[in-house]
Amino acid sequence: MEQTFMMIKPDAVRRNLIGEVVRRIEEAGLRIARLRMVQLQMSEAQEFYAVHKERPFFGSLCEFMTSGPIVALVVEGENAQVRVREVMGATDPAKAAEGTIRKAVGLNIEQNSVHGSDALETARQEIAFFNLKLDLRG
Ligand code: RTP
Ligand code: MG
Repeated sequence: MEQTFMMIKPDAVRRNLIGEVVRRIEEAGLRIARLRMVQLQMSEAQEFYAVHKERPFFGSLCEFMTSGPIVALVVEGENAQVRVREVMGATDPAKAAEGTIRKAVGLNIEQNSVHGSDALETARQEIAFFNLKLDLRG
């Protein structure tokens, strides 16, 4: 079964929207295979978003992602990677389609409530990150 990686970002955790996000994922026919709430360290956020390190929003993004706890999830199902991205909607909530998580609960282009792996290879890397950095914490 295909697996992908998701995070419920600090803006959504702060607003008590963990259940709302999980409900939308499950309602799409996908299954939560693993779930853990953690506070990312700055070095972990920087590593996770390293692909964006030259972008002007990198510093602000890492500050945001370490501003409170996140929920890390492994989601599985048929075409899980693409399906999760569809359920999430476009990066900017103002441009996201009706019925998507970001349209429903996202605040702005940075505080957009959820992360989902952008390709199958990325999903493999991000699940490995989860295993190494997050799952093995005390
Ligand atoms: P994600 O990686 O979090 O699933 O989001 P994404 O693929 O839709 O968007 P991406 O381009 O990978 O950007 C990663 C995250 O950086 C923040 N961002 N801020 N201020 C800005 O212009 C800007 N652009 C992106 C968002 O939190 C975005 O999800
Ligand atoms: Mg991305």
